[in-house]
Amino acid sequence: MKDKLRSQGWFGKTGKDGFIYRAWMKNQGIPDYEFRGKPVIGICNTWSEFTPCNAHFRELAESVKRGISEAGGFPVEFPVMSLGETLIKPTAMLYRNLASMDVEESIRANPMDGVVLLCGCDKTTPSLVMGACSVNIPALVVSGGPMLTGKYQGRDISTSDVWRFNDAVRSGEMSEEQLTVAEACMCRSRGHCAVMGTASTMACMVESLGLSLPGNAAIPAADSRRKVLAQLSGIRIVEMVKENLCLSDILTRQAFENAIIANAAIGGSTNFIIHLLAIAKRIGVDLKLDDFDKLSANVPLIANLQPSGKYFMEDLYYAGGLPAVLKELDSFLHGDALTVNGKSMRENYMTAECYNRDVISSAEKPFNPLSGVAILKGNLCEHGAVIKPSAASAHLLKHSGKALVFEDIDDYKNRIDQPDLEVDETSILVLKNVGPIGYPGMPEVGNMALPKKLLAKGVTDMVRISDGRMSGTGFGTVILHASPEAALGANFAVVKTGDVIHLDVSKRTLTLEVPADELEQRKRSWKPVHKKYDRGYVMLYQQHVQQASEGADLDFLNGGSGSEVSRDSH
Ligand code: FES
Repeated sequence: MKDKLRSQGWFGKTGKDGFIYRAWMKNQGIPDYEFRGKPVIGICNTWSEFTPCNAHFRELAESVKRGISEAGGFPVEFPVMSLGETLIKPTAMLYRNLASMDVEESIRANPMDGVVLLCGCDKTTPSLVMGACSVNIPALVVSGGPMLTGKYQGRDISTSDVWRFNDAVRSGEMSEEQLTVAEACMCRSRGHCAVMGTASTMACMVESLGLSLPGNAAIPAADSRRKVLAQLSGIRIVEMVKENLCLSDILTRQAFENAIIANAAIGGSTNFIIHLLAIAKRIGVDLKLDDFDKLSANVPLIANLQPSGKYFMEDLYYAGGLPAVLKELDSFLHGDALTVNGKSMRENYMTAECYNRDVISSAEKPFNPLSGVAILKGNLCEHGAVIKPSAASAHLLKHSGKALVFEDIDDYKNRIDQPDLEVDETSILVLKNVGPIGYPGMPEVGNMALPKKLLAKGVTDMVRISDGRMSGTGFGTVILHASPEAALGANFAVVKTGDVIHLDVSKRTLTLEVPADELEQRKRSWKPVHKKYDRGYVMLYQQHVQQASEGADLDFLNGGSGSEVSRDSH
């Protein structure tokens, strides 16, 4: 333990300052002995009824508190900005960095010695981890857990079916009434999306980084063992404070490499890349976009989960959870990487067992040899673009076609279903101005729905390219995060309808067949079409957000400021 608890810089004071720091806390009915040198543990809670995936977090926090008290700590719960993926307009990603600032400053400014981060819906995990990294005190993540698998007309469903239902309604195979019934069938319990979407990916990310107790990622939200894990996490964070085990002790380069390898094996969301890059920058680990391709190139896809496979997070838990996946990856991972329970990653996963080889295959006989993400380079995306081969159509991984360009999301919505749209299944749909600056906030619109007239012909996939993101639950031959984005006036900004584009995933190339001098000429006459904001957070965001290839954090938030606060408040 450090010589002096950080919290004693508030509660251990004498005189007027100590009186003020303790007295107002006592109005909550807290006895005096709680302030006498107990580790104060913050519980950073993203509970909100506007974040349905996290709506059970007040109850979960009670379990964490029980553990903290049991271990001799003093739990103090506090709220931070909560980002509900489904309700926030224009996109929760616009506010990830704002929420991370809230988390960072809330942790630093308050008398806490350690913090438990309650994370669930997509952006609530990276924003909390990013913020905590910039303070770097002992911290541990408790995820909210996935929903139970949805059941509709006798079959299993979850969030990936939203896209299938949408196509079915558009092609006339499903009625609006049936769609309304399906809504309740899909979201039938507490928790976040039940497929390997971004929330599940983030939960796996924190476990494979070593930031949570083993097993955290997959326990369903409705399973009583989720509360057990929360209580054990409460006990553990008090021990971490005594050991002075900080985030920077866990988040080494090895930990990041483990997370990338694990993400490949589970078929995790492409959003993982942006969030992990941002977290690495906060904690000061050198991580590059190309690392994601290099480190996952030989890792097989062994978790047979939607959207890349068949099953759901609930099935992953019953099959042995993420520890059983990690055990299969032993030869790829840095098994000696330290985790929050004080044990190595290998010590944690070696006792795991796989109970269902259809859900978690062996590494020798993988469910799909294609895994991870491919980082594409070329004159259409000078700083890179991303594709998830396991969620794409094999026959489109090498494809050349003529671009059908939409200048922004409104242009796409206005024209995509026009009967006279000149498009066929070989066309490549290009959507501009959905990047960090252009939209702004980089929404999940990259897996654009196909033109109605092609759906009617039975076309189920086409190559699609954008500077935006895709929901982790989405699928298709979708190229995302094209950097630099269109709003910056680079090559991606000047691609025109009719230009020929070549995609070759095996060679990692995305090329626009337009001569360099023609591109330069187009760029000279290019004018931005995106809206520029002139006040408030969105103005700050547009002025400072970095490109997706850099993690899309605000440039002035890279790194950290530590936990010291030099001045008192009175
Ligand atoms: Fe919250 Fe999918 S909407 S995890």
